[in-house]
Amino acid sequence: MDASAGRQEIPGFPKQHEGAHYMEVLAHLSRQRAIKRYLEIGVFRGTAFSQIAADVAIGVDPHFRIDQNLAANKKSVRLFQMGSDAFFRDVDAVAELGGHPDLCFLDGMHLFEYLLRDFYKTERISSRNTVICLHDCLPLNAEMAHRNEAVSYELGSSTPYAQWWTGDVWKIVPLLMKYRPDLRVMLLDAPPTGLVCITNLDPDNTVLEKNYLDIVREFYLMPNDESAILNHYRSAPIIRTGDVLNDFNQSLFFNT
Ligand SMILES: C[S@@+](CC[C@H](N)C(=O)[O-])C[C@H]1O[C@@H](n2cnc3c(N)ncnc32)[C@H](O)[C@@H]1O
Repeated sequence: MDASAGRQEIPGFPKQHEGAHYMEVLAHLSRQRAIKRYLEIGVFRGTAFSQIAADVAIGVDPHFRIDQNLAANKKSVRLFQMGSDAFFRDVDAVAELGGHPDLCFLDGMHLFEYLLRDFYKTERISSRNTVICLHDCLPLNAEMAHRNEAVSYELGSSTPYAQWWTGDVWKIVPLLMKYRPDLRVMLLDAPPTGLVCITNLDPDNTVLEKNYLDIVREFYLMPNDESAILNHYRSAPIIRTGDVLNDFNQSLFFNT
């Protein structure tokens, strides 16, 4: 018998996000904004990276599994096979890129405290007009949001989303809303598990870094269950990717 038979659909969770795929959104943004410099944390096979158009692109991953053409639509590509903490500690990313990144995609370790560090370290090397995008912050159930990847797969095996793991990176959204209300945080309905675009960056703001341990303690204690994730869904409007991909509307969402 199908283990999911009789399972109640949880009111509030979408079955799937209806917008354009996150890779299409990133690729479109890179072209529409004619970006020069791109940074991706967590590259894996390079599927998203290969679709970005840029002059210079940097990829960071401790375990690359590249099987895509990373050089497509780029003049220069640099790969750093290391974790993002080591990258930001040891590499002068601005020098490697030849300037501040224009577009960044943070998709490394799927735990909110890692993403928090990736975010504030990326913001520090950004300019005010940089766009930072985050993956996986709109999970479709609590099973995929479990912090332990193996446990998440086990719990999710009887759901329609077997082998999907977002971890608890969704917590970065309420965290930024509380500690950085000056940022513009947009939640996009990009399948499979959402795309967050953050603008209005302030490279000189040190609130997240200075209060890192207190913030991590606070948000580690925040529940990571259905009701907490549904509250997160209700806390901000989910923007349709179609609105953002419409070039006429871009200046509604991004600095030009
Ligand atoms: C979901 S995959 C990335 C997919 C890719 N961004 C795409 O959309 O095509 C996540 C990647 O993050 C990498 N990763 C895990 N921990 C990391 C860390 N501390 N720093 C950077 N990357 C990390 C993993 O090795 C894995 O390849």
